[in-house]
Amino acid sequence: MINRIKCIGVLSSGGDAPGMNACIRAVVRTAINNGIDVKGINRGFNGLLENEYRDMDKNSVSNIVNVGGTILYTARSKEFMTEEGLNIAVNNSKKMGLDAVIVIGGDGSFRGAKKLKEKGINVIGIPATIDLDIPCTEYTIGFDTAINTAMEGIDRIRDTSTSHARCSIVEVMGRNAGYIALYTGISTGAEEILIPEKKELASIDSIITRVKIAMKKGKKHYIIVNAEGVGNSYELAKKIEQGTGIETRATVLGYLQRGGSPTCRDRVLASIMGVSAVKNLLDGKQNRIIVVKNGVVKDIDIDEGLNMTKGILTEFLDTVEGVESK
Ligand code: F6P
Repeated sequence: MINRIKCIGVLSSGGDAPGMNACIRAVVRTAINNGIDVKGINRGFNGLLENEYRDMDKNSVSNIVNVGGTILYTARSKEFMTEEGLNIAVNNSKKMGLDAVIVIGGDGSFRGAKKLKEKGINVIGIPATIDLDIPCTEYTIGFDTAINTAMEGIDRIRDTSTSHARCSIVEVMGRNAGYIALYTGISTGAEEILIPEKKELASIDSIITRVKIAMKKGKKHYIIVNAEGVGNSYELAKKIEQGTGIETRATVLGYLQRGGSPTCRDRVLASIMGVSAVKNLLDGKQNRIIVVKNGVVKDIDIDEGLNMTKGILTEFLDTVEGVESK
């Protein structure tokens, strides 16, 4: 098939995620190797609104595969989501000569991509968010790095918690999803994992009872991994201390989970997905999301992807219960 794509834009949008740079590098190099010009759009959809972009060459993505954050910067653009903003972005995309736009980001960014698609611009989405909360894919760029960073943090908190025989609440990110909490809680042997999908577990009276029983049995610490979507960790700590008489501390891991050098898994999958996005365009495909399904990188229609829903995997909940020390 004759490749009719001559020029593409690539942007990163929403919360940054480690591995975005590896993905940008793969997109730029694959496109240029196939005779396609690439414009790096700065600050997500804002760059389309404000004509903020740069021409990319092979060297512009040198030495970034191992670097966290995104060289294209990122933003959550409210203006782009308005009809007026969208029209400006579409006009600017046409003026730039973009035949397609590759959007690296999360669910919100894909909804932005869908709006561009509805205005006739070919879009390819690549899932990147530390939250892993995109229903159509088993993997999102950045999740692996974030959980490993958080796991290390919780391991450290456990040391000091044990030394003082304290209860510790560690709050992890995830927006309205509990994936980071589940992975980090299971991998650090946390006594409790609180997730927004199962808010009933967070009933304060039942937590107090469980902490008391565990400490009475001789536990030297009680780690509660709390997903940010559940509620305020400092308040929870206060209530637990009041209700149990056991010293309780809260730590919010916060943005450190989003930074840092990406893990091997994130670098490799981000690269595979970046290459795959450009291959889709070379194959003449339109409006796709690159996903991982049953461990394999694939592409699906953007509307189909955005209509999917995701539940908490029951095997995780079974694991949490299975490894409990009762
Ligand atoms: O989506 C990634 C994420 O880090 C969430 O876990 C968190 O709720 C949110 O972004 C924070 O967003 P912001 O950077 O806008 O404060």
